[in-house]
Amino acid sequence: MTVTPSPRVVVLAGGLSHERDVSLRSGRRVADALRSVGVEVSVHDVDADLVPALVQLQPDLVWPLLHGTSGEDGSVRDVVQMLGLRLLGTGPRESRIAWSKPIAKTVAARAGLATPEFVTLPQSLFRELGARQVLDAIVHRLGLPVVVKPSRGGSALGVTLVTSPDALPQAMVDCFAYGDTALVERAVAGTEVAVSVVDTGDGPVALPAVEIVTEGPYDFDARYNPGRTEYFAPARLSARAAGDVAAAALLAHQALGLTGLSRTDLIVDDEGTVWFLEVNVAPGMTETSLLPQAAEAAGLSLGALYRSLVDAALTR
Ligand SMILES: Nc1ncnc2c1ncn2[C@@H]1O[C@H](COP(=O)(O)OP(=O)(O)O)[C@@H](O)[C@H]1O
Ligand SMILES: [Mg+2]
Repeated sequence: MTVTPSPRVVVLAGGLSHERDVSLRSGRRVADALRSVGVEVSVHDVDADLVPALVQLQPDLVWPLLHGTSGEDGSVRDVVQMLGLRLLGTGPRESRIAWSKPIAKTVAARAGLATPEFVTLPQSLFRELGARQVLDAIVHRLGLPVVVKPSRGGSALGVTLVTSPDALPQAMVDCFAYGDTALVERAVAGTEVAVSVVDTGDGPVALPAVEIVTEGPYDFDARYNPGRTEYFAPARLSARAAGDVAAAALLAHQALGLTGLSRTDLIVDDEGTVWFLEVNVAPGMTETSLLPQAAEAAGLSLGALYRSLVDAALTR
């Protein structure tokens, strides 16, 4: 493997999504870790200066650490490739598939993964058909509890666990504040884990699962305020369940055609079934984020891991 002696990397962080602040924190952390291992890094926001800056800098690699719409739906990645630059991570087309939860769930299910039964509902159709009738039909089909979430989104924004029919209309309204299509899926009770997958050149490898325990919902506040959530890295799973969640995340990574790194969110129920919720092509990299915790649980230093991801992307 030929490795550029001191690669020049542009980290993209910020953007105009609801997760701007999270992205800025992810970007800073990754940039610091890379600098500690001799990589020349600059961090750029997504604004009118970005394209001229990339054209002028001609970095060896661009690492998008943007969460939310343009960062994860493939569009910024398309622009980077259009400029003839190399990307770290999943390409635009595959990002677009992963970003849509219903499409990703469909691909995952075809690959053999269990994923909670669901329906999707655009806001316009919801209005046209009449809220009451549609919601009754959903409850009839899926039962309760259900989880309502934007079909594209992140950081649990607009996500509600609904346990009674009366709470469903408000959950839909809250969801439509974050996106025009709602995904309503059967809620799964069990152990929530996130499994990060990294590929440093020898094929994808699952890092130890990180278990998430929250008193209330695992919502935006619980994620980014230290103390509201307890994490166990590695997760407190049997050896068999640990193997099953690793296999599920690897299968999702491969079936969705992901590159470099990903994080799959899963729930293991009491019977040991592993349920696929969603996959992230730009997983959070903040101090409380799951991928860095998984790397540490695997005994990897973040600088060394990120450097290997950079080197692998340069030789891919
Ligand atoms: N079907 C489900 N059953 C139980 N909990 C769920 C379900 N779907 C989502 N959740 C909870 O909501 C959180 C956010 O959902 P997720 O699908 O991961 O979306 P995102 O992280 O993109 O906002 C999950 O981490 C989990 O705690
Ligand atoms: Mg998630």
